[in-house]
Amino acid sequence: MSFSPTSVLVTGGAGFIGSNYLLHVVQSYPETTFVNLDALTYAGNLANLKAIENAPNYTFVHGSVTDAQLLSRLFDTHGFDAVVHFAAESHVDRSILDPTAFVSTNVHGTLVLLQAALAAWKNADRPCRFHHISTDEVFGSLGLDGHFTAQTPYAPRSPYAASKAAADHLVRAFGTTYGLPWVMTNTSNNYGPFQFPEKLIPLVIRNAVVGDPIPVYGRGENVRDWLFVEDHVRALDLVLRRAEDHSTWLIGGDQEISNLELVEMLLDAVDQATGKPIGTRRSLIQFVTDRPGHDFRYALDSSPVQEELGWSPNHDLASGLSRTVAWYLENAAWMNAILDGGYRDYYDLQYGSRGMN
Ligand code: NAD
Ligand code: DAU
Repeated sequence: MSFSPTSVLVTGGAGFIGSNYLLHVVQSYPETTFVNLDALTYAGNLANLKAIENAPNYTFVHGSVTDAQLLSRLFDTHGFDAVVHFAAESHVDRSILDPTAFVSTNVHGTLVLLQAALAAWKNADRPCRFHHISTDEVFGSLGLDGHFTAQTPYAPRSPYAASKAAADHLVRAFGTTYGLPWVMTNTSNNYGPFQFPEKLIPLVIRNAVVGDPIPVYGRGENVRDWLFVEDHVRALDLVLRRAEDHSTWLIGGDQEISNLELVEMLLDAVDQATGKPIGTRRSLIQFVTDRPGHDFRYALDSSPVQEELGWSPNHDLASGLSRTVAWYLENAAWMNAILDGGYRDYYDLQYGSRGMN
């Protein structure tokens, strides 16, 4: 299968993965136009896109995927032949504090976007391929052994995961019922430049730099599989261009580690990058109340995307973390600009009762 889109709608392109994706594709495909539709929630940041903001094949539109009229206008104007749907509420802890926005954006927003893509596809002479960006969390929680595959039954456990699972089901239902061409990717924990510091890795780097306590949930025994975001976006590009319609691809970094080991590795990397004796910052670690319903482990079988589409990650955890730490240290201004009152309010709500102030 070979597909070369000419006009692509990217949703949520001012967020972490969406901006890394746009930075890659806008420069790699100058003949393709990319429209970035983003509501600029607390997680959306146009500073991420400075390098391409004036590119002739890139346009930003401020708006929501829940706005059917706006979507209809955008499809009419730009004749999209592909949609890459990143827009979502993405943080598990926020979904535990209040799931409302998760259902609105992740479920209802995906439905409205699917309806717009379907209407456009029916009126056009070219299919509109819908690339849905999803997560390994839809499959639930693993014990010490085993991997999720594309055939693993869904068993989401947090409000975030449930909202992503609902969206995934809607995408597949639009394929089965109406014939909409879709591809789907379910990915493990991403990290790298431009990640909002509510997520573990940038939060640890930020707290390590200023000497604040590092909150580790429970005993830090939960396991995640970490994928450097630039490796992820290369895989996304391959799937959009090469995968068969109605196919699902699991993309993981094959870099499993417990949270405590990861935090220690990261603190040591910050020590090294700032010229402190390795191990100095480990004393900042503070074990705090566990996340309710905390999934123990995620792990993905990525062999199909490796064997059938020829993808492989370029970074292991050590090289990815070292690049990530270097990026955050060099981009302190980026971090400081987003540590506003809204971030403080969230931090107090999330960590205040866990003894983190
Ligand atoms: P993020 O929170 O950094 O960014 C989300 C973006 O979506 C923001 O720019 C935000 O402004 C935008 N947005 C939110 N609501 C919107 C709406 N109603 N209309 C338009 N835009 C809206 O998220 P991320 O970490 O970049 O994740 C992107 C996607 O990848 C999500 O669908 C997430 O579920 C999925 N995913 C993330 C990871 C990860 O480790 N970060 C892993 C697997 C899957
Ligand atoms: O697995 C893919 C998912 O990865 C994505 O779908 C989500 O959008 C993304 O947020 C991420 O979810 P996690 O919950 O795994 O990521 P987070 O960075 O919030 O937490 C990583 C692990 O670290 C998790 O086991 C919880 C733990 N943690 C997190 C924070 C923020 C801590 O111990 N302390 C913390 O302060």
